[in-house]
Amino acid sequence: MAHSLQPLHTFALSSQCQNFIEITDSAQLQTQSFNAPFCLLGEGSNTIFLNDYAGTVIKMATQGINITERENDFLVSAAAGENWHQLVTYLLEQSIAGFENLALIPGTVGAAPVQNIGAYGVEIAQFIEAVDYFDINSNCFKSLTNQQCHFAYRESVFKHALKNKAVITQVHFKLPKIWQPVLSYGPLQQLKNPTPQQVCEQVIQTRNSKLPDPYKLANAGSFFKNPIITNAALVPLLAQFPELPHYPHGAGHHKVAAGWLIEQAGLKGYKIAGIEVHQQQALVLVNHGHSTGDDLISMITHIQNTVLARYNISLEHEVRLIDQHNECHISLEQSA
Ligand code: EPU
Repeated sequence: MAHSLQPLHTFALSSQCQNFIEITDSAQLQTQSFNAPFCLLGEGSNTIFLNDYAGTVIKMATQGINITERENDFLVSAAAGENWHQLVTYLLEQSIAGFENLALIPGTVGAAPVQNIGAYGVEIAQFIEAVDYFDINSNCFKSLTNQQCHFAYRESVFKHALKNKAVITQVHFKLPKIWQPVLSYGPLQQLKNPTPQQVCEQVIQTRNSKLPDPYKLANAGSFFKNPIITNAALVPLLAQFPELPHYPHGAGHHKVAAGWLIEQAGLKGYKIAGIEVHQQQALVLVNHGHSTGDDLISMITHIQNTVLARYNISLEHEVRLIDQHNECHISLEQSA
């Protein structure tokens, strides 16, 4: 039965899928057929359906949080369908700190490891002990250690070797009892001996000042990844654009701010149909409505072309795009 996808992804393009299934108990996965095309979804805050999807959308909606106190830390096990921000606030209420920099990130617990969510100097990978998943090929439940997840900036094994092969069912987090606040990011630096709650409030205030609430103004968060370039490529760029924000990324590389590149290319407020480069944060695209997947592809291509021409940098979209049959990647190499 055709099912509207508009309320199921926060970018809210108008589209439909052939079938829709909600998983409220992981055991359902063992009887679910994965032979026909399928797409796994949490709250749809990092996935955009460009067109009608000719397959089954499987939404993970399992609930449950379990906390075990250990000698030096708390082991927090949360079901994939739990809302991420609610987990952050629930843990703070229990005086378990660590996630406050990641407050207000939209989406579910199960989606968090896939792209290794991160903000304000913290990435979720540093707290993950293990990830449980349903292995589609063997029809069995399995588990991966942190190391086996191959976490990197907005990356994990779930976007590569296990793509379309694993359904994350539960995530086990390890939160040390000794709390070490991470206050390196601009607006957090002003806090002096803050409580976890105060850090959380500052993060919420900072996010609210730049990032639109996806349930009020449709968007999918940062649209592009911050590009990682070699030090050799950075030198001529800095000579021409001394203000370009850049951060060391391992030996030999730097991460540069895609939002700055887009803003300085004059694209803030640029519009195609109802899609606009957000006025407060150029890395975010918002959808005012009456827009299609083709409008979005035109916008992506325009931004990528403009940034390439001005800085010789290829922007890669961070958001997962789904066309009629599959996930797709919009890149200049492909369209050239
Ligand atoms: N900047 C501009 N103009 C803009 C946007 C940014 O000049 O329009 C500059 C800022 O002034 C700053 C730098 O670019 O010097 C970085 O900007 P910001 O701190 O806002 O963060 P970001 O790099 O744009 C990343 C994450 C966000 C996360 C923030 C805070 C990615 C793709 N995005 O954005 O994550 O909240 O850092 O840590 O890494 C998300 O993934 O959906 C997301 C919102």
